[in-house]
Amino acid sequence: KRWLGTAADIPGTGEGADPYYLAEFSNANEFGEATPANTMKFFATEPQQNVFNFTGGDYFVQQAKASGKEIRCHNLIWANQLSDWVTSPAVPWTNATLTAALRNHVTKVIEHFGDDCYSWDVVNEPLSDSPAGAWAANVWYNTIGEEYFFQAFDAATQAVKANNLAVKLYVNDYNIEYLGNKSIATQGLVKELKSRGLQIDGVGLESHFIAGETPAKADQVANMQAFTALDVDVVVTELDVRLDLPATAASESQQKLDYYNTVAACVSVARCVGVVVWDFVDTYSWIPSTFPGQGYGDLFLQPGGANTPLVKKEAYDGVLEAL
Ligand code: XIL
Repeated sequence: KRWLGTAADIPGTGEGADPYYLAEFSNANEFGEATPANTMKFFATEPQQNVFNFTGGDYFVQQAKASGKEIRCHNLIWANQLSDWVTSPAVPWTNATLTAALRNHVTKVIEHFGDDCYSWDVVNEPLSDSPAGAWAANVWYNTIGEEYFFQAFDAATQAVKANNLAVKLYVNDYNIEYLGNKSIATQGLVKELKSRGLQIDGVGLESHFIAGETPAKADQVANMQAFTALDVDVVVTELDVRLDLPATAASESQQKLDYYNTVAACVSVARCVGVVVWDFVDTYSWIPSTFPGQGYGDLFLQPGGANTPLVKKEAYDGVLEAL
């Protein structure tokens, strides 16, 4: 069993209110998994210290379960999309006070969603690109040091045990889709978690790719196998393939091949549990606002704009051919 999933932003005023989007999201024949793009992040779930808000996350769970989807819950601890009380505390953090806040967040959020989550991305993007594989600087690392990472997994491990949950625990990152220093360092994190007796079930390979610059299929397979050799699962967690706008016939067929290669890589690795696209319609993609001049990264278009019918792109056929 292996699913194709998608990130989605529902409820919301964009795709969450678009009937054509929602119809495709709810098509159980297309997507067997869903990841909340934003609704379970720190800023959304703990807006004030120890005051939790699960309204958005609960709605997402209900929508995803209505079409029988697994849910990769995303994410507990990250550098970005934090609440102001974390990034601009009234009283400066100490190692002890921030560790307590971190553990409380991890524990309470895992407890709330329980077994509705197939998995949790416990720490998102822990490592840097410069130099590749170093710890990324963020409020957690800067205050607590690398132990923040293990504290997060320790709190998660205990919450899973105490509540008898089946939820799997993942570390999720980008630029670890091929065998480079960052992937090797992530393998080191998996080994260290295991040697400390902490729960680690899988590694999320984000896979935000650029058409024509995607690692070769064989490289993606070798990288996945390097992780599964450590006795963890892998998931392609955030696949999209952006290109320079406007798309051309050549860049569109390159993109189709890139989608094919990543999905085919997953299909050829026994412990690659699934592929998740980071949303499926260009209309609502995060790419154009994040990477100016680039876009066209998803599987569908809405030629008439929001709230109009979806049209499959060549990339969609690339995915289909790989499955
Ligand atoms: C992105 C969302 O898609 C955007 O809506 C939001 O503004 C910023 O975050 N890596 C991740 C995701 O792990 O959580 C990010 O999602 C994309 C990059």
